Amino acid sequence: MESKGLSRNNRENKAKPKRKEIIEKRKAMDALIKVASAEKDYLSAFPAFRHYQISGLSAFLESGRGDKLSSPVKQFIQNLLKANMEGPYGSEWPAEEKVKRREMVAPEAHYVFVRNTSNASSGEFLTTSECEKTSASCVEERGPIVGFVHFRFVIEEELPVLYVYELQLEPHVQGKGLGKFLMQLIELIACKNHMGAVVLTVQKANSAAMNFYLCKMRYVTSTISPSRVDPLIGIEKSYEILCKTFSNEAKAILEEPLELVHSV
Ligand SMILES: CC(C)(COP(=O)(O)OP(=O)(O)OC[C@H]1O[C@@H](n2cnc3c(N)ncnc32)[C@H](O)[C@@H]1OP(=O)(O)O)[C@@H](O)C(=O)NCCC(=O)NCCS
Repeated sequence: MESKGLSRNNRENKAKPKRKEIIEKRKAMDALIKVASAEKDYLSAFPAFRHYQISGLSAFLESGRGDKLSSPVKQFIQNLLKANMEGPYGSEWPAEEKVKRREMVAPEAHYVFVRNTSNASSGEFLTTSECEKTSASCVEERGPIVGFVHFRFVIEEELPVLYVYELQLEPHVQGKGLGKFLMQLIELIACKNHMGAVVLTVQKANSAAMNFYLCKMRYVTSTISPSRVDPLIGIEKSYEILCKTFSNEAKAILEEPLELVHSV
């Protein structure tokens, strides 16, 4: 017999929390989400993450919110999503694109934008007119936006988590460490705001992103991912839910380590 069942039974055998305790816990989680979501600039606590510089790329990071996006920024996000995600989503893309357009502008959508402040070849700062010549995505004077993370604070499986809705970089700035840098920032933001985990969804067809999260960022397939809820359902679904946990409670809920499970 499988011990996964056993570990679930153990959990079920524990004394059930009283209704009052459940309500108190829920209130505490709602308060955490409210406080976390009220922050205007998530970078203010991590000034070292305002700039990213490697040979050939100088970038500046800034915060944003879904209901405060300018029209050119919305257009940029839509264009980049289409360019990067139409392939992995395949026939699901037209429906998914509509969902993403709605999600993009929600007040609970928090952003970190990456602006390219350098001429990639020389490392010098670009003027506005140079930006316009080099990138159609140059929407403001501070340099063109070349990528972004969209994240939210939500309750998942009775646990407050930071959910990464999107992590998108223009192709010419991919593979330069920016994705890792942004995910490290996201994990710091999650910890600072007392979230139990960072959670995200990846299309299985997006093998580069799967590899990035699983191999490089050390995320694991969550117990709430279709393939772990039920392998048969998992085969039908085109995505996996990955997570990185920061507390034992989160680990028990979102990871439920299979190595502790043994046969009897
Ligand atoms: C996936 C993505 C966010 C990764 O960001 P990135 O800046 O390109 O990745 P990084 O340069 O930070 O790479 C970090 C590590 O992952 C590795 N890596 C990145 N992309 C990889 C790939 N396609 N295949 C294998 N390894 C990869 C790098 O080698 C690096 O490893 P190292 O630290 O040992 O050198 C970025 O490529 C992207 O925007 N892709 C298109 C959109 C997308 O798929 N988003 C994810 C949707 S869920």
